[in-house]
Amino acid sequence: MTTNTQSRTQWLGRWGFVLAATGSAVGLGNIWKFPYMTGEYGGGAFVLVYLACILAVGVPVMMTEIAFGRRGRGSPIDAVRRVVTESGRTSAWSLLGWMAMLCGFMILSFYVVVAGWSFSYLWKMLTGGLAGSGVDDMVAIFVANNENPWNLGFWSTLVTLATMFIVGRGVQAGIEKSVSWMMPGMVVMLLVLIVYGVFSGGFGEALRFLFVFDAGSLSSDGMLAALGHAFFTLSLASGAILTYGSYLPARASIARTTLSVALADTLVALMAGLAIFPVIFANGMDPGEGPGLIFMSLPLAFQAMPLGTLFGILFFVMLSMAALTSSISMVEATVSWLCDSKGFTRRAAAWGTGIVLWLISTLAMLSFNLGADWTLAGKHAFDWLDYLTSRWMMPLGGLGMALLAGFVVRSEIFREELGLSPAWYALWLFMVRYVSPLGILVVFIDALGIARV
Ligand code: PHE
Ligand code: NA
Repeated sequence: MTTNTQSRTQWLGRWGFVLAATGSAVGLGNIWKFPYMTGEYGGGAFVLVYLACILAVGVPVMMTEIAFGRRGRGSPIDAVRRVVTESGRTSAWSLLGWMAMLCGFMILSFYVVVAGWSFSYLWKMLTGGLAGSGVDDMVAIFVANNENPWNLGFWSTLVTLATMFIVGRGVQAGIEKSVSWMMPGMVVMLLVLIVYGVFSGGFGEALRFLFVFDAGSLSSDGMLAALGHAFFTLSLASGAILTYGSYLPARASIARTTLSVALADTLVALMAGLAIFPVIFANGMDPGEGPGLIFMSLPLAFQAMPLGTLFGILFFVMLSMAALTSSISMVEATVSWLCDSKGFTRRAAAWGTGIVLWLISTLAMLSFNLGADWTLAGKHAFDWLDYLTSRWMMPLGGLGMALLAGFVVRSEIFREELGLSPAWYALWLFMVRYVSPLGILVVFIDALGIARV
């Protein structure tokens, strides 16, 4: 066993971890990214591949990461190194930890911009800035909100400051408690939107779009996007879940917590789809509109429904909270590494990280205005950060984790940590050895065009 188990913070029981991990998982990925990607990649086929990836890759890898964190009791770098050395293998595997940490940081650099959108729309809702607008106005409002770097920069800077403040003070636990009212609240808001959608005239089309599988509509690129999104939405291969796992008490069941987090995350994403697409179809909007999709569509629904302003305010409050409980998990790996291994105080680690973060996020923010032309191979900074993390770093990091757990680490370690019955353990091992790695490789090779599946 590692020696520093006693000195490390732990969650208060099983619920502390479940709240924190759910807070990390459920976020903009579910409500902002899932719908717009489903729209871009043509609907049902994307959804099906995404669900398959959650089950075949996401769940086994999440169990693996939590087990790594708890066994290694440290940041991704330290935890992986400890578990691997405990197995008598080379610590070069801790490169996986480095990549995960970098990945979480890169995600946060563009996530704060999107969270900034959520905060700015909350503000618009509160001040009546969206009232009386039609479809075209909504598009114009979204564009105008992005066009002014001072405005957009104000909101993303605010999110950066809030994130680093919470992490620096070490008060995440307090924020994560908010998950216990925010999650049910979010579900209620989505239900309100879904009920509205049922009467909007676009519901049937939305159901068909989301759940009718049309094999022809899915490209190789769409499959890789679905795989990457499965990692993104479950906060995997980015240091977040692994680091949270490092605070997990020895008694808690890793399998059960993983299943409840994955289930909650999937339900919220599907509900978000059911809430948004009726509005899109009822108003004749384009599902492939891109990253602005929810901001252009949902305000239309809030305008048309009874008590809409109130619901709209509550919705954006909860979306902003959900974004914060995710953003704090993205830097926890970096901050805990700086504290544990480099001797920083928590506050210094948070503010140091925050400055670098702010600089990179400013580049992402400028992608929507001043820097719209600063592109490389047709992508600006915001797109690059998303593309590199979701399409490359997370699938490769997840592949590495699965292979590491399946073939490199001594098998007693995971048998002990997972505490599963022999049959379930065998299933987990089969998944991380064969199903998850092959799934990732097939999607990758297909997307690279080396061989068509
Ligand atoms: N899972 C979060 C979401 O869906 C995003 C996230 C990615 C959080 C990576 C932490 C690490 O919004
Ligand atoms: Na998510």
